Amino acid sequence: STTSLDLREDILRLKKERNAVILAHNYQTGDIQDIADYVGDSLGLAYRAQETDADVIAFCGVHFMAETAKIVNPNKTVVLPDKDAGCSLEESCPADELEKYLNDNKEKNYYVIAYINCSAGVKALCDVICTSGNAVKIVNKAPADRPILFVPDANLGAWVMEQTGRKMDLWQGACYVHVEFTRESINKIKSEYPDALVVAHPECTTAVRLLADEVCSTEKMIAFCQNAPVKNIIVVTESGMLHRLQKEAPDKNLIAGPTDRCACNDCHFMKMNTMQKLHDCLEKLEPQVELPEDIRKRAEAPLLKMLEQSK
Ligand code: 13P
Ligand code: SF4
Repeated sequence: STTSLDLREDILRLKKERNAVILAHNYQTGDIQDIADYVGDSLGLAYRAQETDADVIAFCGVHFMAETAKIVNPNKTVVLPDKDAGCSLEESCPADELEKYLNDNKEKNYYVIAYINCSAGVKALCDVICTSGNAVKIVNKAPADRPILFVPDANLGAWVMEQTGRKMDLWQGACYVHVEFTRESINKIKSEYPDALVVAHPECTTAVRLLADEVCSTEKMIAFCQNAPVKNIIVVTESGMLHRLQKEAPDKNLIAGPTDRCACNDCHFMKMNTMQKLHDCLEKLEPQVELPEDIRKRAEAPLLKMLEQSK
């Protein structure tokens, strides 16, 4: 419609005026993905945020992702369309609980690895960060003589243990979106497409992961789909991914993984962002991500270590 075209043009004008860059996660709605300067997974977005020379970063994703951009860019303005776009994994590991756990288990001398889906307060308490795109690499580089505590995603942690053969103690957090896929729901769609390959995100449960031909980060799903020797591919992750995959692998028939209740699954946090809110955050330069400098500095060290170790 004319109004959505106007909105698009207004966003592009504001982006120029503000010297802003628009970064979007693969789970954002199609209209936001299509106007972004870069669309990717948590790892790609962290590198882009680190590299940019824009004055303003408009981050379309969830809060911890925008916060990560701010951690590496203390002097830039980082805005997000909706400051309430959280993440169930972040919620499952409050910084004060982790701090208490580490204090109560001091004798263990844990090497703490935090999946990037957590607050800056949690990042500040750990030794290194990882994403789904580099978790295996980062765990393989952990000191061999120290026990590992992996926070906050127990499902991703279990997958990394299998991949690396390294034992880890796992914080019992989960992504509310990915645990909705079940063995029954995936077996059902597989029976409808018997020749299809299945690609799943490592935040899925072990039972679902075992049904997948490939387990990987959202960005790595692109190469998997492009190179797959079959047309039908069942994609077991948040539904926004389908828009990105359809653009990158147009000759494939991409089928959203269903849950027991729905044909596909949305992250309501990711979907809080809209074109109107993106427009408004560029216009008003708020809401902004702000961080106490001591936390930011302590969170930056493990983040930079990750960016270095995963090159
Ligand atoms: P990726 O880094 O693989 O895109 O995952 C982010 C995420 O939030 C998955 O739920
Ligand atoms: Fe967090 Fe899950 Fe949403 Fe990803 S899909 S942002 S892990 S709640």
